Amino acid sequence: EFKENTAIVVFGASGDLAKKKTFPALFGLYREGFLSPTTKIFGFARSKLSDSQFKERISGYFKLPNEADKEKCSKFLELCSYVSAPYDKDDGYIELRNQIEKFETSRNVKESHRLFYLALPPSVFTVVATNLKKNVHPESKGLARIVIEKPFGHDLESAKALTQSLAPIWKEEELFRIDHYLGKDMVKNLLVLRFGNEFLNSQWNKDHISSVQISFKEPFGTEGRGQYFDDIGIIRDVMQNHLLQVLTILTMERPVSFDAEDIRDEKVKVLKAFKPLNNQDILVGQYTKSEDGSKPAYVDDETVNPNSKCVTYAAIGCEIENERWSGVPIVLRAGKALNEGKVEIRIQFKAVPSGMFHNISRNELVIRVQPNEAIYMKLNAKLPGVSTSTTLTELDLTYSNRYKDFYLPEAYESLIMDVLHSNHSNFVRSDELEVSWALFTPLLNYLESDNAPVPEKYPYGSRGPKNLSAFLQKHGYVFESDDVYQWPITRPK
Ligand code: BG6
Repeated sequence: EFKENTAIVVFGASGDLAKKKTFPALFGLYREGFLSPTTKIFGFARSKLSDSQFKERISGYFKLPNEADKEKCSKFLELCSYVSAPYDKDDGYIELRNQIEKFETSRNVKESHRLFYLALPPSVFTVVATNLKKNVHPESKGLARIVIEKPFGHDLESAKALTQSLAPIWKEEELFRIDHYLGKDMVKNLLVLRFGNEFLNSQWNKDHISSVQISFKEPFGTEGRGQYFDDIGIIRDVMQNHLLQVLTILTMERPVSFDAEDIRDEKVKVLKAFKPLNNQDILVGQYTKSEDGSKPAYVDDETVNPNSKCVTYAAIGCEIENERWSGVPIVLRAGKALNEGKVEIRIQFKAVPSGMFHNISRNELVIRVQPNEAIYMKLNAKLPGVSTSTTLTELDLTYSNRYKDFYLPEAYESLIMDVLHSNHSNFVRSDELEVSWALFTPLLNYLESDNAPVPEKYPYGSRGPKNLSAFLQKHGYVFESDDVYQWPITRPK
């Protein structure tokens, strides 16, 4: 079902995020028939751009797989226009309101539906939110929604300050804090996988699971984003938000329903059960030049302090102190400039009693979030044929093999669609944000103090710091030797 005659305004419309994510997502929804052609889209930013410069800019990253899409692209661009004005003066907002009202009147809209997307740095969140509320909110004449993007603060205190500065202006139900990992298809699948399958549901606890890992690997460094990254580091960039969100859904109790507040209540509860992070239970790294010298070290970026101790790789041990998880080691790990790009969840189960078996492998459930979505369970089976020996194989749901011609929306597409339908399930609630910062802030303070450990160096393009394997073993992960796990399994000689 479409939302008709919605006015969408993208702030920061000339910036990087809008160009790379927001506009391509809006176009993607339109291309696939999920955004009504009755929508009106405004870009708003300080830069002075002509209409055609603006359109050229926002369409640079559109995916246009075939000729028909080019046609759709020009139709989409007809829905868009640009307003250039400073963020801190009323005039631009009044101009925007007039344009929205003109659009609504021409469509005979009885109840306004306005969506404001702030693709902006946090320094201007509050001023834009305030001016919007003052000048462009439809008040009793309809609905408004405001979307904000991370970073939601730099630590607990600044996150609280941000929440408090927005709270008197925008109601929590109007506010959508985006964490785009919550829009990824596999992350959205976790609730069904966990609670819709008795064989997983019944084993999902400390009695059967021996360790949990969530890992994020990127094959590129901070190219071009050094200045942003140097104050932030990998923990704030992807762990306190994206990976923690995934972990929360993976470990929370069963929500009473799929309603947003039921889900978010459970998320907050499990977050409160986390043991404080142990400063000593971490592994931190920073990348150096690639072994062949072709890729730069982190500190080669001119915008970065040459002595920077900024962490581009981190592995963190966590524990949840509740009935379900007490004692199960959990590792979150994330790194830039590694050998591959991959995000996956790895749940290793306890060993079966040996007795009749010698060296039988453990079950392991792998949920690959990206690329090439897949869920597979490592499984022991008898080797087919006359042999009686056991072999490690898997139950495998690789999406591309199983699902034909499905359209998997980009994370941002899926989330914007949720906003249009006022569904908050995949957005971060203010109390959730606070608990997540409360968990990470002491560790971040330690890493930024004089006692901070020196990050272990790893070459660009490598698997990360050398001490990773030992770190994982210390957290209960049992490595399988390469000859045990093969693909495909070949007939023994
Ligand atoms: C962003 C981080 O939030 O997430 C980036 O700022 C990171 O540094 C990105 O590259 C990863 O998102 P995705 O969807 O490409 O896995």
